[in-house]
Amino acid sequence: MARRHWQNWDAPGVVDWLDADWPGLPVDPTLSSLVDLVEIHHGSGPILEVGCGTGRTHEALMRRLVLRPHGYVGIDVTPAMVERARARYPQADFRTGDLLALPFADGSFGSVVCTDVLQHLPELEAPLAEMLRVAREHVFLLLWLRKADAPRRPPELVPIEVPEHGVRTSFLEVTWSDEEVIAACRAGGGEVLDFQVVDGAGHDLGLVRVGVAR
Ligand SMILES: C[S@@+](CC[C@H](N)C(=O)[O-])C[C@H]1O[C@@H](n2cnc3c(N)ncnc32)[C@H](O)[C@@H]1O
Repeated sequence: MARRHWQNWDAPGVVDWLDADWPGLPVDPTLSSLVDLVEIHHGSGPILEVGCGTGRTHEALMRRLVLRPHGYVGIDVTPAMVERARARYPQADFRTGDLLALPFADGSFGSVVCTDVLQHLPELEAPLAEMLRVAREHVFLLLWLRKADAPRRPPELVPIEVPEHGVRTSFLEVTWSDEEVIAACRAGGGEVLDFQVVDGAGHDLGLVRVGVAR
């Protein structure tokens, strides 16, 4: 898989930084609300998580669905993330792979879940189309949304420094508008069925349930 210049998730310290901020805390409230949507609406079949990182969402999903266990596969483009996820949750199926070319047949999963990834990609339509391709019922998204009165800005590389974890890199960041998300889902073969917006400081957060429309 080709490495793109803006994918800096393997920069020194990033895995430790992402891994450090949740084990001591209760589940992040926004992530918990997304998991509510999954718990209510996931029907049958395994769950695929794309851009699974070190396993935060896996943990939230598995704890919530402990009485209704489903198959789970997590996929992430960064080998160091996958290694950490496997070390943390050795019983789970984590794989290295690109969400733009998922190595699965059409409709292989009941649901696809994607948290905190789409705000770091330069486009929306191709990733959503790929998630919708492998889902039979739903795609669940947690992503940054542009505030209603904020101007549209192209994706930009934003420098990030986290001295306590030795992180000094840059990540592509973009905030999508509500309309862009809805249109991209439709273009990819989905229909937005729930769209919740949580007010945030620099950007809002969107919790989105997309139904597969084919
Ligand atoms: C901000 S982290 C979020 C991780 C996890 N979803 C969470 O909420 O904790 C973004 C993740 O997306 C992954 N990622 C970025 N581009 C990707 C791609 N094209 N395919 C698969 N994973 C990707 C990165 O490696 C990183 O682990």
